[in-house]
Amino acid sequence: MTEICSSSPVDTEMVGEMLAKELHAGDVIALYGDLGAGKTHFVRGLARGLQVNSMISSPTFAIVHSYEGPIPFYHFDMYRIGNWDELESTGFFDYLDGGGICAIEWSENIENALPDNAIHVRIDKGRDENTRQITIEGISFNHHNLEERKQ
Ligand SMILES: Nc1ncnc2c1ncn2[C@@H]1O[C@H](COP(=O)(O)OP(=O)(O)OP(=O)(O)O)[C@@H](O)[C@H]1O
Ligand SMILES: [Mg+2]
Repeated sequence: MTEICSSSPVDTEMVGEMLAKELHAGDVIALYGDLGAGKTHFVRGLARGLQVNSMISSPTFAIVHSYEGPIPFYHFDMYRIGNWDELESTGFFDYLDGGGICAIEWSENIENALPDNAIHVRIDKGRDENTRQITIEGISFNHHNLEERKQ
C-alpha cells in the first residue's frame, strides 16, 4: 500500500501520471472517493502518462469515454449505475477484455464486478480545502521522486 499526500489538483494529476508509467494493457484502476475528491483530476494524469493526447472530461452522462493512444484508455464514471443490467448495457465487460487500460470513477457502485487484480486508488479529503490523501493498493509504486518533480 502506498499513501501520498497531495496538496493541490496539480499534485493529484502528477501522481496519476506517475502511476501510469507502471501500467500495462489490461490493467484496471478502481477509483474511490466522495464527490469532488479529485478522481477526474487523477484520471487526467493517468491519461497524460499514457500519452493520450485528448482533453479528458468527466463521462458522467455517457458512463464511458474511450480514448486512443499507444494503449487504448477507457474512462468510466459509475455514479449513475444502480444494478448489474445497467452495468452490462454500458459494455463494461467487453471493455475489461478489450486489451486497454480502464479507469473507473465511483467503483463503490460496481464493487462486485471488479476483477480481483484491480488496482485500488482511494482519494480522501484532507485537513484543508486543497489537501488530499491518496491511497494506492494492488501495485508497488515508488513515489519518492514526487517531491522533486514538484519543484
Ligand atoms: N489536492 C487536490 N487534488 C485534486 N483536486 C483538488 C485538490 N484540491 C482541491 N481540489 C479540487 O477538488 C475538485 C476535484 O474535482 P474532480 O472533478 O477531480 O473530483 P471527482 O472526484 O472526479 O468528483 P466527482 O465525484 O463529481 O466525479 C476540483 O474542484 C479541484 O480543484
Ligand atoms: Mg469525476
